[in-house]
Amino acid sequence: MGVRNRVAIITGSASGMGRDTAFMLAKNGAKVVINDIAEEKIDQTVKEMRDKGYDAIGVVADISNKAAVESMVSQTIEAFGSIDILVNNAGMERAGSLRKLSEQDWDITVNICLKGPFLCSQAVHGHMVEQKRGRIINIASRAWLGGPGQAPYSSAKGGVVSLTRTIALELGKFGITSNCIAPGLIATPLWDGLPEKTKSYLSAKQPGGSIGEGDDIANTILYLADDETSYVTGQVLYVCGGRSLFSA
Ligand SMILES: NC(=O)c1ccc[n+]([C@@H]2O[C@H](COP(=O)([O-])OP(=O)(O)OC[C@H]3O[C@@H](n4cnc5c(N)ncnc54)[C@H](O)[C@@H]3O)[C@@H](O)[C@H]2O)c1
Repeated sequence: MGVRNRVAIITGSASGMGRDTAFMLAKNGAKVVINDIAEEKIDQTVKEMRDKGYDAIGVVADISNKAAVESMVSQTIEAFGSIDILVNNAGMERAGSLRKLSEQDWDITVNICLKGPFLCSQAVHGHMVEQKRGRIINIASRAWLGGPGQAPYSSAKGGVVSLTRTIALELGKFGITSNCIAPGLIATPLWDGLPEKTKSYLSAKQPGGSIGEGDDIANTILYLADDETSYVTGQVLYVCGGRSLFSA
């Protein structure tokens, strides 16, 4: 029951909701892998976790690079002996109108937000199949429904929803669930970096008027990662304060 002694890789977990998720899973007894491209932030996060007595290692890896992902998985097995939970969280956004976006904007967004989760899922699935148990949790976005100025990001996140459903269908018979969280506005460094004008426009559309915290996502991930949540798979769970009830 729960996630005690389960091994979790959380991509992009040196910041934002990934970091909050790592602390949430570790607080509940999981052994965690802090992955990111930001080495200093990884070291700081691992140090804070170990200071609290949590079992954590850090792995620098760009999730859009197959060799780096495979190395991260090997390092996890070497350190902890298994992989039970994969949280595909790392992401970024290049926004702009269809007219202004460049080919590079498209490539980098799709490579990190969609190819990354594919590569990580592919790299862990053999271990999960072997042990007949696993949880793959993908972080999409409410923006997968479509958002003006968000062509690459919305398209990549829509792909994450399809990937989630496909993995659920392919791997269900091995005791592996695959679910997707579609966050709305969450107060993280990614959100902080948006222009004030964009932030006030988006905040005004929140049904409850407020934006969410990293722990709103971390708690939902804890639920989906639980050994007991075996009959929930292939789903998109909106954690957005009701924002998904409206169109873009
Ligand atoms: N904050 C929001 O309002 C919001 C809303 C919807 C969805 N999301 C999604 O939630 C996830 C986490 O976002 P956040 O708000 O916590 O952002 P964040 O910027 O705080 O954290 C993202 C982390 O991912 C890391 N990262 C980026 N590229 C990487 C790569 N190639 N390999 C490994 N790590 C990489 C970054 O270094 C960073 O530490 C993302 O997938 C994002 O698209 C965020």
